[in-house]
Amino acid sequence: MLNSQLLKIAENFGSPVYVYDAEKIAFQYKRLTDAFIEVKHLKINYAVKALSNISVLKYFNILGAGIDTVSIQEVQLGLAAGFLPEQIIFTPNGVSLSEIEEATKLGVQINIDNLSILEQFGTKHPHIPVCIRINPHVMAGGNSNISVGHIDSKFGISIHQIPHLLRIIENTKMNINGIHMHTGSDILDIDVFLYASEILFETAKQFKNLEFIDFGSGFKVPYKIGDIETNIEELGKKLSEKFNSFCKEYGKDLTLAFEPGKFLVSEAGYFLTHVNAVKQTTSTVFAQVDSGFNHLIRPMLYGSHHDIINISNPKGRERFYTVVGYICETDTFGNNRRINEINEGDVLCFKNAGAYCFSMSSNYNSRYRPAEILWHNKKAHLIRQRETFDDILKNQVEIDFKSKEDKVLVG
Ligand SMILES: Cc1ncc(COP(=O)(O)O)c(C=O)c1O
Repeated sequence: MLNSQLLKIAENFGSPVYVYDAEKIAFQYKRLTDAFIEVKHLKINYAVKALSNISVLKYFNILGAGIDTVSIQEVQLGLAAGFLPEQIIFTPNGVSLSEIEEATKLGVQINIDNLSILEQFGTKHPHIPVCIRINPHVMAGGNSNISVGHIDSKFGISIHQIPHLLRIIENTKMNINGIHMHTGSDILDIDVFLYASEILFETAKQFKNLEFIDFGSGFKVPYKIGDIETNIEELGKKLSEKFNSFCKEYGKDLTLAFEPGKFLVSEAGYFLTHVNAVKQTTSTVFAQVDSGFNHLIRPMLYGSHHDIINISNPKGRERFYTVVGYICETDTFGNNRRINEINEGDVLCFKNAGAYCFSMSSNYNSRYRPAEILWHNKKAHLIRQRETFDDILKNQVEIDFKSKEDKVLVG
């Protein structure tokens, strides 16, 4: 998107505001499907948790994607966005059996990653097909919080537990129609990912009724110039070859599935803020914006980098700034950044703000969550209103401490 378009949005809709470029989302979706063009049946299930606005989900539906969900509410959101139950996979972790049963009542594909739950589910519902999430114990991801294939991870059924898994299946006579892995986010090394996929293929041979193999996601996107990203085209070529030869050996054309979040929406997102104050201290110059980690938590949570540019003064002299928010706690967005000269009132734009940004936002400090805009067909569409004071009070229950009934309450 052009700076002038973003500036206009900040002018018209105020700040802080999230902006998503639909064209970029479509571009990334096509890049991924093109990379796997050699595979006969490909399914891209967009990971709703990355960015769950209903208009964004509807857009993915138009593109031809399915969705990957991790809570019953995400399943309901997907259905509300117009996805058919068979286009939805439910991949929860640590949820109750009853939540999984609720999802099956809605007709979606379930993915189970726990032997205890699998045994209970298989005993009660042997005829409902289930996908199994395997933990291949391969560290393909970057940050330890988002790397989930390792030995200490809470995710997936360990490959070392396959004999127990097979025993449960034999005893319950349940039907396993899919096998899944997700090694974690930020895959740097394709060979490590391919190695994990070999483990999955080996495991898959033990299941005779498979319809699909789901390789999860975790594709890394660039956050700054020169950053490493997952080479999706190379991965597509190499994994497609392996997948096609596996299908030959298996004797059936299975579906190859992925569930990317970040790859599809990260770079499509821009977060716009106004500068409230420029504050020179003895050690640095702070640019203080009208937001904080309540709206964009990734830098404080993961130490992640978001490029920050001054779209109000793109030709200004470059200076060093520490960009912070207005939360009453340390909320640094970027330390010592080289940015075109910042004046109070300028609009700063945070890049890569599509994935895990709005969806992780909160009302901390009793602030309103931002508005969201979808930039589609060269027009700005408001897809979420900025919250108001009513939203802050909504669901809060006030006690009338002066009423007589209250005396009864305290006995
Ligand atoms: C099971 C599962 N699938 C898919 C994703 C999406 O990962 P990413 O946004 O890195 O593509 C995640 C992310 O945490 C996940 O846990």
